[in-house]
Amino acid sequence: MSGVLYGLGLGPGDPDLVTIKAAAVLADITVIAYVTPLKNAAAGASFARAIAAPHLGGEKIEITIPIAMNENPAPGQLAYDQASREIAGHLDAGRDVAVLCEGDPLLYGSFMYVLERLNESCKIVTVPGVSSLGAAAAAANLPLVSRHQSLAVVPATLPEAEIKSRIAAANAAAVFKVGRNMAKVKRVLDVLGRMDGAIYIERASLPEVRVLPLADAPDDAPYFSMILTTET
Ligand SMILES: C[S@@+](CC[C@H](N)C(=O)[O-])C[C@H]1O[C@@H](n2cnc3c(N)ncnc32)[C@H](O)[C@@H]1O
Repeated sequence: MSGVLYGLGLGPGDPDLVTIKAAAVLADITVIAYVTPLKNAAAGASFARAIAAPHLGGEKIEITIPIAMNENPAPGQLAYDQASREIAGHLDAGRDVAVLCEGDPLLYGSFMYVLERLNESCKIVTVPGVSSLGAAAAAANLPLVSRHQSLAVVPATLPEAEIKSRIAAANAAAVFKVGRNMAKVKRVLDVLGRMDGAIYIERASLPEVRVLPLADAPDDAPYFSMILTTET
């Protein structure tokens, strides 16, 4: 395959947090691929596509990857199989392809599922992005870890006991994919005595960002939200 496959990190939403490198790739690239919600495969439904929009600089060939936006830990393998075949076709024809990822492409990023399918068959360039973890800590002006401390990155989709043991083992934790798991995470932090100082951050880096003490957070949090807890 003579085309180059880019895993393109686009940051947490603020257009000013798209790196100069990612913007340059977007301006030149021929083909873009991105995840859309299964129930709404329109380009406008992709957050990554929206972040990329001001930088696209003209028409692109677009590949959508429709994935169910629920808490099922198994991503839509068939959708990634199909998209990877389509991407491989463009790479074979010498066209570069960028997989657009919100945040960083290698932190719960959709690019990972394309990477594992096309690795070793083409040249791959991963362009790191500002992650939502950094953006959420920045929104709260919250120092995460220092010196010999450790940070756990924990998906709220895990079973309650697993969330508890992972958070208990670290000085600080970032809980991703909160959504409808809010009550479960609150219970865990309460039992661990970590509610005080725990912070809920919704849509970090966007104008509608919300930063609240976890105790005041909504029970049904949106998809783009996170909980940060540090030792008090
Ligand atoms: C599939 S992961 C993608 C993470 C992304 N690759 C990154 O580097 O930040 C989606 C989860 O990231 C978190 N997230 C992404 N963007 C966010 C934002 N702007 N504010 C708060 N949380 C965000 C949420 O926990 C969300 O459920």
